Amino acid sequence: MISPWPLPDGMSAELFLAEYWQKQPLLIKAAFPAFETPLSPEEIAGMACEEGIESRLILDRSGKKDSDTPWQLSHGPFDEALFSELPESHWTLLIQEVHKYVPVLAQLLESFRFIPNWRIDDIMVSYSPIDGSVGPHVDQYDVFLLQGLGRKRWQISSAEVNDSDLIPGLDLRILSQFDAQQSWELEVGDMLYLPPGVSHHGVALGDSLTYSIGFRAPAECDLITSFVDYLAEERLPTSHYRDPDLTLQQHPGEISPAALKHVREIINSMPVTDDDIARWFGQVVTQSKSGDHVEPQPQPLNVEAFVGRFQQGETLWRCELSRFACIDQASSVLLFVAGNIEALDVSLKDAVYLLCDQRIHTVEAWRELLASNDNCALLCRLYNDGHLYFENDHG
Ligand code: SIN
Ligand code: CO
Repeated sequence: MISPWPLPDGMSAELFLAEYWQKQPLLIKAAFPAFETPLSPEEIAGMACEEGIESRLILDRSGKKDSDTPWQLSHGPFDEALFSELPESHWTLLIQEVHKYVPVLAQLLESFRFIPNWRIDDIMVSYSPIDGSVGPHVDQYDVFLLQGLGRKRWQISSAEVNDSDLIPGLDLRILSQFDAQQSWELEVGDMLYLPPGVSHHGVALGDSLTYSIGFRAPAECDLITSFVDYLAEERLPTSHYRDPDLTLQQHPGEISPAALKHVREIINSMPVTDDDIARWFGQVVTQSKSGDHVEPQPQPLNVEAFVGRFQQGETLWRCELSRFACIDQASSVLLFVAGNIEALDVSLKDAVYLLCDQRIHTVEAWRELLASNDNCALLCRLYNDGHLYFENDHG
């Protein structure tokens, strides 16, 4: 399957990364010229009624004098009856992680291979009738906003935003004042890239669907606490604070500079190796965000039967509930699947790279690698554990 190139004609990935990524917005007209939404507004409404799918509804009441709040947020799952009661305009329904449920959307991610997979968070879809919006706001992560149906006007501003610029008392972070610096009308297949920190306001000009390809930007404090938790479980020192060199203090109520120095030495001597960072980080970034996990194959195959099926030409797909990543180490290759880690022999490196780079696997791409029993056993195990499936398994 060929993934369309989503950057403007003549723009290389290198140029995009150097000039735009995390730096400045980019409007890409006809990024996906023949884009056809795989989801209809009705299907999106149906998903919003399902347990286990993260959905939100944002009602814009800012123009209503009788409303006690300018913006209303509610979380799904919703009752089907709600959709017949909603007004004809001024609302947006959002569904998170749609790439997990719609394999064609996961395939769309293949067009963004110029950014490492682990940086990708999810694809979110929004449906709005005319004048629907989620309000002017700013995100802390990069996003590509792809127009999937109808038209939407996007206005943006690079002016700095502080918490005092938000409408108080809402459970949404909406700006009380938004002065657009640029404005565009996006049509189906057009896409707008926004780096973190650029305020944006999208308003539907009729029935509109937007797919947001969102990137993850973990908060540094979350990274640090997560790493310390990991180390604590792995092997933090078990020894206790000791001070055989304690001298008499004039003020027993004081925590002395010597005590603080000793505590700092304990913290500085935390046994952190590059291997710790690699193992922890790979596990963290491949963990599922919503805690969902794959089901093992009800009828596991032995390696011979599995390879037989693959060689007959059946395509093998990645189950999107499982994230894959790898780290090349001198003596082994670390494979991370859905938060689990395996240190594999370097002879499996090519297979591991292919597994982590591609979402869809064909026997043509694997033909040479299938000559190795270890590669076959690895693929078969991932299949039996539910991380890969044959396209035909799902009808
Ligand atoms: C939308 O789809 O209208 C909102 C997406 C976003 O602002 O991130
Ligand atoms: Co946004």
